[in-house]
Amino acid sequence: MDDIRQYVKERYAKAIKNTASCCGSGGCCCGTGTPDIPSMTRGNYDDEILENTPEHMGGQSFGCGNPFTEARIHPGETVLDLGCGAGLDLFLASEATGPYGKVIGLDMTDEMLETAAENLRGLHNVALVKGYIEDMPLESGTVDVIISNCVINLSPDKGKVLREAFRVLRPGGRFCVSDTVFLRPVTERAVKDLAAWSGCIAGALQETEYAALLKEAGFIEVEVRRTKVYKMPDALAAMTFPELSAEERNEINGALASALILGKKPPEKPEEGRG
Ligand SMILES: C[S@@+](CC[C@H](N)C(=O)[O-])C[C@H]1O[C@@H](n2cnc3c(N)ncnc32)[C@H](O)[C@@H]1O
Repeated sequence: MDDIRQYVKERYAKAIKNTASCCGSGGCCCGTGTPDIPSMTRGNYDDEILENTPEHMGGQSFGCGNPFTEARIHPGETVLDLGCGAGLDLFLASEATGPYGKVIGLDMTDEMLETAAENLRGLHNVALVKGYIEDMPLESGTVDVIISNCVINLSPDKGKVLREAFRVLRPGGRFCVSDTVFLRPVTERAVKDLAAWSGCIAGALQETEYAALLKEAGFIEVEVRRTKVYKMPDALAAMTFPELSAEERNEINGALASALILGKKPPEKPEEGRG
């Protein structure tokens, strides 16, 4: 587990120092967008949502979707962002929850946390915490909403992440995460080729596996909702993966998607014999 975390840490430390050249180098979560295939990291938010955000923060985002579409954050809520990176989603959560709310950004990479601290200077409702999403340094039952953007696929122990998420949520708390998923079983070779293309999906789960792990952790109202499917025309696939046979290309083309991963911690039952 430590080796994988170290590898991921180094990749994202490099990526944030070098954001301009990150896409296309395979150095980080990206996925080359063309008119024929959606970009993983770009175009995830409507322009008006980003209106108040410092412009450069869009270029520092390595997410693969918009976790806010179902999060419906209310003023005053406590929001936790797992693998917050340079902080774009923290900025948006800070606006949504307002001065009486609280936003916690958890990440293991110093360079990301340093950049987030600079980006979010002056936002008094945001706290940055260094730590692992598999072992969250947070008290149980203290968070209303968990968001995350393209992070859990990188974890070597996703079951542990989801159990930790369940632990820190309050009863009735929501889990609203954007992540990459496989839409069908793929061979190890195909996973490697897709990882090289996107830079971030080596450990993506299949949709059904994700839902099963969430339920095992205790979540209810579980849903895995596809938001972008990475399928390219055959000619482009042939150019992108020239070393693969047509059959191998068919296996991977369209097998990867971004998805919203949703769940809820069951609300507390009213005590029997009361009320
Ligand atoms: C793909 S980037 C996404 C960053 C951010 N969510 C965004 O949308 O820009 C992945 C981030 O997750 C962090 N990360 C990956 N694995 C982690 C783990 N096991 N524990 C804590 N942070 C992790 C990395 O340091 C990096 O900042």
